[in-house]
Amino acid sequence: MNETMRAISPRTWGDPDVLTLIETPRPVPGPTEILVRVHAAGVNPTDWKSRRYGGLGLWNDPVILGYDVSGVVEAVGVGVTLFRPGDEVFGMPRFPHQAGAYAEFVTGPARHFAPKPAALDHVRAAALPLAGLTALQALTEAAALRAGQRVLIHAAAGGVGHLAVQIAASLGVHVTGTASAAKHPLLRALGADELIDYRTTDFTTAVRDVDAVLDTVGGDYATRSLRVLRPGGTLVTLTSPDDVPPAGPGSAGLRTGFTIVEPDHAGLRTLTELVASRRLRVEIDTVLPLEQAAKAHELSESGRATGKIVLRVAE
Ligand SMILES: NC(=O)c1ccc[n+]([C@@H]2O[C@H](COP(=O)([O-])OP(=O)(O)OC[C@H]3O[C@@H](n4cnc5c(N)ncnc54)[C@H](OP(=O)(O)O)[C@@H]3O)[C@@H](O)[C@H]2O)c1
Repeated sequence: MNETMRAISPRTWGDPDVLTLIETPRPVPGPTEILVRVHAAGVNPTDWKSRRYGGLGLWNDPVILGYDVSGVVEAVGVGVTLFRPGDEVFGMPRFPHQAGAYAEFVTGPARHFAPKPAALDHVRAAALPLAGLTALQALTEAAALRAGQRVLIHAAAGGVGHLAVQIAASLGVHVTGTASAAKHPLLRALGADELIDYRTTDFTTAVRDVDAVLDTVGGDYATRSLRVLRPGGTLVTLTSPDDVPPAGPGSAGLRTGFTIVEPDHAGLRTLTELVASRRLRVEIDTVLPLEQAAKAHELSESGRATGKIVLRVAE
């Protein structure tokens, strides 16, 4: 196959202007993989961190950024039983290896995708996999939260946070979130029980004895979060392994750890069920065309997004 496609590739690691529109060969699906015509690609902080620092270095040639995809199956590799050409799918293939979602076509293992939620258009579906699976895996696996327990979700209005608020609420977990005051009405509507304006209030004075904290801010938030956990509680750090507080008197009797989201077919189906039963909705901050990936990265890197930023690749 010698067909080509448009994609966004960083010329080198650095500022957003390193992102370049390139013409490159279409990928070919291997055994058990599907080829997806991308309609929309979600933007995540891991994308700008990779662009700036090179990320984990798990790149192909050419480097193509992006993980979140919603689109239509174009072709299937040998052995695929889940999908046929024409099926609408969404997913986060291959993470944390290169997926190459900022492109007109991607390939990935069939089971890294699931049928696109019928209630979501491609833009909203592309916004969901990475942030939604992160929230789901952190709440239900890393923190193993159950109905009646309490969680503190930092950056509750962000891509991960606003989905975590809703997933936790759907589990019957009491949700406290940190966000600037202007974002509180939205978060209440999404199911948050209590909100802390982190700009005016030190969260360690406003909440205590939670069963788990989801830390999507990092820095000193991790160590300070230990103070609000009940004995035996869990701190789930999502920013960097370096942000996990060192073992010491402050962490005695607590569970702490860094977690990385993984591709998860069953998890995608769970997110779809939550969407279908109206317990989960996806807030979109900004939609931009693929060519404006640099602008999308500037917005993401500002750290102020409410919900998700998405690149539209095809109508
Ligand atoms: N380990 C993993 O697998 C994994 C997966 C996904 C994401 N992550 C990481 O998790 C972090 C968050 O990701 P994301 O997609 O949710 O980011 P995001 O969408 O860019 O987060 C933006 C939100 O953060 C809020 N915020 C910024 N500083 C805050 C603070 N000090 N306290 C409370 N809220 C604050 C902002 O609200 P205001 O405007 O009100 O400040 C904004 O709504 C990133 O570092 C990302 O790399 C890790």
